[in-house]
This record gives sequence, C-alpha cells and structure tokens, in this order.
Amino acid sequence: MKRIDTARSEAHNSLRPTLSWPHLVALGVGAIVGTGIYTLTGVGAERAGPAVILAFAVAGIVCACAALAYSELATLIPTSGSAYTYTYSVLGETLAWIVGWSLILEYSLACSTVAVGWAGHLVGWFQSAGVVLPHAIIAGPHDGGLVNLPAVLVSLAVAGLLMTGTRESATINIILVVIKLAALSLFVAFALPAFNADNLHPFMPYGFVSHVEGGGTKGVMAAAAIVFFAFYGFDAVATSAEEVKRPARDLTIGIVGSMALCTVIYMAVCLTAVGAIHFTTLANSAEPLALVLRTLGHPAASHLIALAALVALPSVILVMMYGQSRVFFVMSRDGLLPAIMSRVNPRTGTPLFVTGLTGIFVAIVAGFFRLDEIAELANAGTLLAFIAVGACLMVLRRTRPDLPRVFRCPAPYLVGTLTVLGCLYLMFSLPSMTLIRFVGWNLLGLVFYFAYSRGRSVAAATAG
Ligand code: ALA
Repeated sequence: MKRIDTARSEAHNSLRPTLSWPHLVALGVGAIVGTGIYTLTGVGAERAGPAVILAFAVAGIVCACAALAYSELATLIPTSGSAYTYTYSVLGETLAWIVGWSLILEYSLACSTVAVGWAGHLVGWFQSAGVVLPHAIIAGPHDGGLVNLPAVLVSLAVAGLLMTGTRESATINIILVVIKLAALSLFVAFALPAFNADNLHPFMPYGFVSHVEGGGTKGVMAAAAIVFFAFYGFDAVATSAEEVKRPARDLTIGIVGSMALCTVIYMAVCLTAVGAIHFTTLANSAEPLALVLRTLGHPAASHLIALAALVALPSVILVMMYGQSRVFFVMSRDGLLPAIMSRVNPRTGTPLFVTGLTGIFVAIVAGFFRLDEIAELANAGTLLAFIAVGACLMVLRRTRPDLPRVFRCPAPYLVGTLTVLGCLYLMFSLPSMTLIRFVGWNLLGLVFYFAYSRGRSVAAATAG
C-alpha cells in the first residue's frame, strides 16, 4: 500500500493559484463537449427513442456525484494518475492495478471514439460538398470497408503533436469552447422552428430498463450507459485544484457548474433533434446533428456544424491522450509497467515512447472497430474508475478524518453511495458483450500483474 502522505509528498505543489470558477467552468465545458453530443446522440436515440433526453439527465446526475467525489480526492492527493493513485493509497495495489488497467480503456478508447466521430463528420462534410471518398478507406471491416483511414490519421496526428510537447493552452481552449457552443446554439436556432410534438410520441418506445430487443440493447438505461461518454473529461477540472484561488468555492461551482451546464445544453440539443425529425432517422447516423439540418433544408448550417466538430474534436483527443500518457507514466514509476514507459525524452521533455505507443493503439482501434462498441468499452473502464473513486471517498472519510481537506465534498456518504450505485447500474445496463470484453480485458491485466508487475512493485520492494 502506498501511504497517503507519500502520495501527497509526490505532488509538486508549486503552481500559482490563478484560476477562479469561470475559468473552471470553461475548462470543464472544453474538455467535456465532444463526440458524445455530436455523434452518440444518434446511437442514444436508437436505443431510447425520444427519451434519449432522459438518458442524458440520468448520466449527468451520476457524473455530477462522481465529479464531487473526484474533487475531494484530487485536492487531497494532488498528484498525477487520478483514480489509479487514489485507489493505490486507499485500497491497495491489486485494486489500483485493476483501476489503472481500466483507465487504459477510458483514455485510449475515448480517443479512438472521438477519432471515429471526427472521421464521420469529415466524410459527411466531403459528401455534402459532392466529393465521395472510396468506401474501402472510410469504413472498418465491420461496415464492409478495409480501414477508417481518417480516424487513423487524426489519431496519429494528435499523438505526433503531443510528442512535440504540445499542450492545450487556456486561450485555445476558450476559442474552442466558443466554437463548440456556437455550433450547438446554431443547431438549436435552425432546428427548433421545425419542432413537432408528434415526433416525441411515444416518448419511451423501449421502456426504461436496459434489455435486448430486436437484436440490440434498448431502453433509457441502455442509452444512458452509452451517452455517459458525453460527460467525462471533467477530471480536467478536478486536477486543476492546485491552481485554484479559493478551492472550496471555485471547485464546487466549477465542477457542478460545468456538469449542469453541459447537461442542460445536451438536453436542449437532444430535445431539438428528436423534435425536429423522427428518432428513427437519427438512429446510428455518423453525424446526427448535421443530418438533421440537411434534412430540414439548411445545407450551409449543416456544413458549419460539421466544420465546428472537425475543428474542435481533436482537442478532446489531445486532452485524453495526454491523460493516458500520465497514467502509464505513474504506473511505470510505481514499477508496475516497464520502466521505458516513464522515460522522458530530454530534448522534447515529453514521454516519447509511451505517447507513440498510445497513438498507435488508439489509431488501430479507431481504424478497425465500431464507434458504439468502442465507446461502450471506454465507458465500462470509466465506470469502474468512478466506482473506485466513490468508494475511496467514503473509506478515507472513515479511516483518515484528520487529513486536511482543501475541498470537502458535501454529504460525502450520500454522494459516495450514489456514485457507486449509479455507476454500477449504468455498467450493468451496457450490452452483455461489452461486459464480457471488459472482464476479458481485466483478466488479461491480472495475468500481467501476477506474472510481471507484482514482483517489480516499488512499494513492495520498499516495504520488504
Ligand atoms: N466527453 C467527451 C466527448 O463527448 C469525451 O467527446
């Protein structure tokens, strides 16, 4: 077990506190809004019908609880590695390994999902301009093609940027937030006049609980389990704790505020989309919002929405890929992954090897697999990490009430319990195939852990 105090002292608390809550809300919205709303709305509509609006609300509430739990831990143990590090300090190495191994799914597969979403917009954009790209290079084998080349290329390009040391700057983030929100507002402005309440009936054609129907997983919870993807990225806010002027107030407003704002925006966009055209037309479209505007006869606005997605989505990949390299880095520093994975190139100051490796992995998954299946597996990994965070919050309140908490989560046992139970419910609403793949992934991880990592653990060596 890693001592909390050791984990705390590993943090370099030398950043100047310059941020307050408006910055945090912008940071949160910048990291959160992406493929989830731009693309997965279509998948959600296929699973829940017009009640996809409700699915966004359910996922948003669970994520808001997880975000509060996350903030207390992020301020208490402000060191990189997020859920993996908290679990290591609170619940021990084996569970931390499972969380870290699941975080690989969260970060890497989220990158692949966003890359596929980006590619869908690129292809739609070309098509609406009259350029038809060969099917073989814009679809994976699951869709009768060879490889989704645009998704591969954007993944490799972002990895290349990270390898040169690129970080998201606050200014670029603000510009991208404005572009993303302007595009969504444009969507609502053009599609709302076509609102037809008849499109909302029946509201919940597949019921609430996730179940198999007509060969697919259906129900509001089935949709919630996939559109959950639209909410993560808020860890970007929690991990900025060291730079916040008044953490207790600013972090609460920043996290809950960006989550609430996104939930409201998502619900408004969804309501507009399913009110404008019948949900079956939206179902499984690669670029549902652009499709709605094209169907309504607004080709120029549809072009702009796709363009906004093309400009803004790569930054979500950048943030997630950076997060992945940090998790690999910390696991390697703890001795659980080969030392080469925490090697920093002296010239660029970046972990070149691990970033390149992540880029290749992300590109392969993006090139050959289905969007919804990748997103579901990413969600399974993230849900496990959130469950661990909820549990760590409660355990630590009991075992170490003495620790100075910069940010105290309100009603910690209620929030912790809601996080754990909400995430479990979402996880079991995922298709059974996803759960089987998730268990398979973790079994593979445990084989690696017992064969390689356990004997090389730095913490075990120090204790022994
Ligand atoms: N929440 C991010 C997105 O929807 C990952 O793209």
